This record gives sequence, structure tokens and C-alpha cells, in this order.
Amino acid sequence: MRRFLFIQLIALLSVFSSLSAQDGGMWIPSLIKQLNIDDMQDMGLKLSADDLYSVNNSSVKDAIVHFGGGCTAEVISSEGLLLTNHHCGYGQIQAHSTLENNYLKDGFWASSRRGELKNPGLDATFIIRIDDVTNKVFEGLTNDMDEGSRKAKISQNIHLINSSIEKEDFQDVKVKAFFNGNQYFAFITETFMDVRLVGAPPSMIGKFGSDTDNWVWPRHTGDFSMFRIYASKDNKPAEYSEDNVPYRPKHFLPISLDGVNEGDFTMVYGFPGRTEEYLPSVAIKQIVEVINPARIEIRDKALKIVDKEMRADATIKMQYASKYASIANYWKKWIGENKGLKASHAIEKREKYEEVFMEKVNANPEYIDKYSELMSDFDKYYAQFEKYNLANNYFGEIVYRNVEILKFSTMLHSVVKKYEDIDESGREAFVADVKPRVIDYTKGYFKNYNSKVDEKVFESLLEEYMTGMDPEFIPTYLTELVASYNNDYSKLAKEVFEDSNLTNIEDFNKLAEKSPSSALEKLKADPAYKIAVSMLDAYDIFIKDPYVELNTKIKKLQRTYMEAQVEVFKDKKFYPDANSTLRVTWGIVNGYEPKDGVYYSPKTYLGGIMEKYQPGDYEFDVPEKLRTLYDEKDFGVYGEDGKMPVCFIATNHTTGGNSGSPALDANGNLIGLNFDRVWEGTMSDINYDANICRNIMVDIRYILFIVDKYGGARYLIDEMKLVRPKAQTVVEGE
Ligand code: ARG
Ligand code: ASP
Repeated sequence: MRRFLFIQLIALLSVFSSLSAQDGGMWIPSLIKQLNIDDMQDMGLKLSADDLYSVNNSSVKDAIVHFGGGCTAEVISSEGLLLTNHHCGYGQIQAHSTLENNYLKDGFWASSRRGELKNPGLDATFIIRIDDVTNKVFEGLTNDMDEGSRKAKISQNIHLINSSIEKEDFQDVKVKAFFNGNQYFAFITETFMDVRLVGAPPSMIGKFGSDTDNWVWPRHTGDFSMFRIYASKDNKPAEYSEDNVPYRPKHFLPISLDGVNEGDFTMVYGFPGRTEEYLPSVAIKQIVEVINPARIEIRDKALKIVDKEMRADATIKMQYASKYASIANYWKKWIGENKGLKASHAIEKREKYEEVFMEKVNANPEYIDKYSELMSDFDKYYAQFEKYNLANNYFGEIVYRNVEILKFSTMLHSVVKKYEDIDESGREAFVADVKPRVIDYTKGYFKNYNSKVDEKVFESLLEEYMTGMDPEFIPTYLTELVASYNNDYSKLAKEVFEDSNLTNIEDFNKLAEKSPSSALEKLKADPAYKIAVSMLDAYDIFIKDPYVELNTKIKKLQRTYMEAQVEVFKDKKFYPDANSTLRVTWGIVNGYEPKDGVYYSPKTYLGGIMEKYQPGDYEFDVPEKLRTLYDEKDFGVYGEDGKMPVCFIATNHTTGGNSGSPALDANGNLIGLNFDRVWEGTMSDINYDANICRNIMVDIRYILFIVDKYGGARYLIDEMKLVRPKAQTVVEGE
């Protein structure tokens, strides 16, 4: 007993020391050998750097794909079976759903290869090789170049790299900037275009807890769906064809049934989208005090309206569920981010860091020259930038994001502009080409559009625009219009929506069927279109140029600051901000203290689903079959001590885009599926803190349990490779 305690203590101690040593980080797979492998192995990794990333042999990276450009997925069988999140496959599941076959509601299991459903437009991209091309990208750059010529030279060089780099013709190359433009890497990729839907649980499982539980721990969401990559007969990328066959991957992930325990090593391999970990304090301050509050307020207004309408009407709920989820997602994240940045004193900490930085700069004549003005320049430019940054967000949120009729108008406006820009002789061909596409787009658009809902959002956000936007950026047309209604936004909205031709497909089609010149005339007189165009024009005249100009200056400063930090803090290892390229992050399974006196343990169970269960509630209902499986404790080989694990958390540093990423154990076996982060740690995009930042994963055993016991899709389990590394066995016929 004593001895056991001692071992536990040592284990705990090493957990804490590795924790405190951990700064987070999303590292470049091709550099692990040089930079990280020792740290990773110290923390528990059993694989070599070559096992994780290799150009010549198959490695873990060959099982990871960028899924539809925004999420991550991984190959889990020798026949191209892909695992990703339910919220990543949501659009496809929705597209295949009808009222009779509602796969969102009831789930979907293909039951045979023939039953797997094609998804036009969906693709899956593998990374074949990563090359450092910095020197080539920087060729011909000089110190005295202005940003414009520098940019032009760089894109010229990238163009050259693209055309000269060694690759097969079914491969592509993409060059991306790292460390704010201090380093460049080329990615040789293979993109598969035939990706079919294989299975998904019902939303009651895949979206359990919905927006209430989103960004929250403890969590119980079975956020997964399955797809399959199809390839040509010679295993190459190919457009959809009935003759295509399941893709044979270079590597697929074995799946561990061993489960996880607090303190276990985990890593997450995927495509994180965007982080800003190296901002100066003044930038964080602007986000916390100005930008986040504005976007939160705008979305708050829109979401309250849409939520009310959705609750009152089932059709509206169907039409708006996906749009609502996507707007609510970052609204909630920004609220959490602001709380976390304040609670962790991120601004003060960053100020201290800058003091140390400046001390080091001032102690070295070589640095003084280059960097002594950096911080004061940041202060100066961020101060000038603030009002344009705010206006840009107002414009983006209101015109491009939340008021659908305005967004639709700007889309039409860009077509009109193109039409007017080409000369008379080319216009007929232009119309013939563009008109069917616009008509096609509007079919989908109006299918999920309700003008009553949009009218209310319009009313509320137009007022927000007039009161929250800097008056100097508001077009006179709007000021006069609103004045002519005596600030009665409700009346204004009502009349705009009554008179507009853009509120339903019939009116719109009537307009579109007219000759181009009369359609144009009618469109230009449309009250909604006129408002949108006045806002667009005001944006172009007052906001765009100063915004871009200041943003360019700030970006240049940030590039210099990044370079300076690496130079000045010589002993520190830096990882580049996320930029939608392939990365590895690692950590340990670990609970956390959300607030004083409260500890959250790192694992949840099916029993917790039953605790949250609210019959009939759209967020917390539980399907009958799952309740029965729970009652009968029918967990098969997937349970653990008579309980069914559901989710777990760890200290992996992840962000948006990491959804669907595999969580791997020390041997590279799949143990979980990443899908979210905890509320108190959503600030990790700006200020990762290992004490409080946790990523959330579905336990792979819950996924297998749902596929097998709930979905009855045992044949999918049969094509996977299940292992029990602790007993060193491959599981067969369990
Ligand atoms: N917060 C997670 C991520 O950023 C999950 C989002 C999907 N779920 C939702 N309820 N909106 O993508
Ligand atoms: N839920 C996010 C995603 O979809 C992941 C995250 O932000 O932690 O990529």
C-alpha cells in the first residue's frame, strides 16, 4: 500500500512538473525531430519523430486529412473510412435529409457500400510533404522595400515555387506564411474529391447539450460522424464516379480500447485555424474592451430574435438551426474569451512580458536600433486603428453576417458591378453564364429564409448600426432615411420588407426574368438593396482604405515583433500561430479548477447524460434506445468498470479547425475525437494557460458503442483495428 502511494505521488509530481513546463503550442510536424521529440518523450510519448512525420515511410500524418477545408478528419480503416465530428459533417447530413428521411433527427447508417452517399463539393486533403521554402520566398527582398513591393515580390517568388517544386500531377502545392511572415513552408498535398457519408448518430447524441453545453465542461456530446474516401482504381484522387473504389491509405489509426486515466499522455494531430498568441498587450486590450463587446452585443440582439422565432415554429427551427448554431458558436466563445482574459490577468501579464522584453532590448545596442520603438509604435497605430477596426466589425457583423437581406443584396451588388464593368459586347455571355448560377444559389438561399425573422433582425440591427457606428461612417442616405421615419425603426423595417423584391423567391424570380436593363432598374430602386449599397459605398469611401493601411502597418510591426521575440528570448522555443496547416500538440489528461474550491475531473460517463436528460427538450432529450442500453448496462467491450465513458479533457492546445482531430495515446492509437474546449479556457487563442485551458474529446469507446450497440453498424467496427496496448493485444471478434 505504502509503495503504491509513493508511486502515485511520483506520478502526480511528474504530472505537475510537466504541466508547469508546458506552454502549449501547435508545432509543425516536419520540425518535431529537431525541436520537440525530447519534450514529447519526456512527457510520455513512445513513438519516434519519424513515426509521427516521415516523407519516405508511412507515418501518423498519412492518416490525417483536412476535411472540407475547415475541420480535421482521420482514416480509421484500410478502406478509407474517415472519422470526424457531427458538427463537421452537419451540412452534408442536413443536405441528405428530408422530412421522411431525417438523418439529422434519426441518424444514418449506410448499411452497405452502395448506400454510402456522395457529397458534391466536399473534399479531403492529405499532406504529403512539408518543405521550408523561406529562402526562396525571400529572394530579392531588400530592407528598404515598402510593404507593397515586398508583397508583390513575395507572391512572384511563391508563383515560381508553385510551378517548379517537385510533385506528381495529381498533387498540389500551397505555400503558407508562418511567424507573421518570418518563415514560409510549402505543403505538397493530395486532395480527394469523392468523400461519401457513411454514418452519423441522431442529433440527440451527436449534438447532445447543443448550444447550452457548447464550450462547456462537463460535457456529454457524441460529436462524431463517419465518411469514406473513394479513389480511382489506381488509388488516386478522382472526381465522383460509380467506378471509384474505397481509398487504400498509407496509414490508418489503430483504435485503443484501453481508455484514458488522469495523467496519461495524449496528442492531437490536425489543422488548427487561427490563433494570435504573440500580440502586444495594447492589441489584447482592444479586443477585450472594444471589439469583443461590440460583436457580442450585435450577435446577442440577432440571436435573441432568432431563438424566439425558432422556439415558436418548427419550420423556422429547421431553416435556422444551422445558421443559429454558427452565429451562437463564436458569440459564446467571445464571451468566454473575455472572461478568461480578465480572470487570468492576460493584459497585465503581457505588459510584464513587454517590460522584460524592453529591458533586454535596451541592454543590447544591436537590438536598440531595430526594436526600441516597437512598443510605442504599436501603441500609436493601435490607437489610430481602433475606430476603423470597430467600424469594420460593425459592418462585417451587420451587413455580411446577421441581416440576411443585406448580405443577399451585397452579393447581387457584386454581380451588378461586374456586369457594368464589362463592355456592352461581353454582357450577353456574362448574363448567360452568371444568371443560372445566381438562380441556383437563390433556391438554396430562400429554402432556409424567413422574411419575418429577417425583418425583425433588420429592425434591431439597423438601429444598432445607427447608434453604435461612428457617425462619420454612416451614409447620409441612411441618416436622412431614418430621420424621415422619426427613428421609427419598426415602421421603416416593415415598409422596406413590404416593398422589397428580395424577400421571397417568387418576387425575386420575377425580377430575374426581366431583361437585364429593366431588372437592373428595378433592383436599383429596391429599398433593401438601396440601403445595403449605401452602407457598402460608405464602407468603401470612409473605412476601407484607412483600415487596410493601418492594418498593413500593424502587420509589419507584428512581423518585426515576432522576429524580435525569437531573437531576444534566445532560450525559449517558439511555435508559430495556427494558420490552417497541419500541427501537433500534446498534453496530459487532466482535470482543472474552474473556480476557487471547485475541481472538475477529466472524465464523464453515460450516467451524466441521464442526469441531464430532459424529456422533450430539444437540447437535452435522450433517445429511448440509449436509455434502454443504459438501464441494461449493455456496454459490450466498450464499458469501463460497469460504466460507459463519454468525454474527457486534456491540456492539448487546440483551436477552431481542430474539430474532428484525433486524440492519440503514447503509441499513436486513437483514444478520442477532439471537438471543443472548456469555457474557462476559450481565451487559449490569445493566451494559452495550462492551468485552465483544456480541449474536449469524445472517448473513442463511446463512439464505438454508439456505432455498434446503438446504430447496429457492427460491420463498420469489423473494418477497424481495435487494440489493447496495455495487454499488448489486437482485439478480434470481441
Ligand atoms: N464550440 C465547438 C467549435 O467551435 C463546437 C461547435 C459546434 N456546436 C454548436 N453547438 N454550435 O466548433
Ligand atoms: N469546436 C472547434 C472546431 O470546430 C474546436 C475548438 O475551437 O476548440 O474546430
